[in-house]
Amino acid sequence: MTAQVHFQAHPGVTIWLTGLSGAGKSTLAALLTDRLQEQGQPVEWLDGDELRRTLGRGLGFSREDRFENIRRAVYIAGMLNRHGVITVVSVISPYADMRSYARRELPRFVEVYVDCPLPVCEARDVKGLYAKARSGEIPAFTGISDPYEAPLNPELTLRTAERTPEECVEEMIDWIIENRLYQ
Ligand code: PPS
Repeated sequence: MTAQVHFQAHPGVTIWLTGLSGAGKSTLAALLTDRLQEQGQPVEWLDGDELRRTLGRGLGFSREDRFENIRRAVYIAGMLNRHGVITVVSVISPYADMRSYARRELPRFVEVYVDCPLPVCEARDVKGLYAKARSGEIPAFTGISDPYEAPLNPELTLRTAERTPEECVEEMIDWIIENRLYQ
């Protein structure tokens, strides 16, 4: 008798964190990924900085290059989703049409707006990039010399200046449970 293999249907979903540099996207994405892993969920995390070091190597920050960066992230997320892997993506994705593209292309798209006022991001300046953007050393910097179009209808808005990262992750987990995105 041949051994039977049982596959469990799993709705692939992408949880897309968008927001300014320094808003807290990567922190929340890392915590969320850990939480989902602890729960035994198949999950991968695609982070902007990491993507740009690998698949997006050589891409800059023009509108076209940012779109290309997002297109590549969407392609990988789609592949992972097809195999039932929850994919957490943390990229600035500053233009509404980029995020609409991602929503159209992916089977289940959850847009999370990591909302933090520019002055707070700038005061944090974790990577020292805002100072360089202000001095003109870094051109086309999101929020300073390049646009950020805030989401109008995100599934979730997390105000990271007002809540702890743990509270924000709790909100995401609650949303995921309420909307039955679990296996
Ligand atoms: S995008 O717009 O979605 O393609 O951007 P992303 O791939 O998320 O990359 C953002 C990170 O690149 C660094 N960086 C810049 N960000 C914005 N504008 C300019 N000009 C820029 N130059 C470098 C910055 O570290 C971003 O990381 P985060 O984690 O958002 O701070």
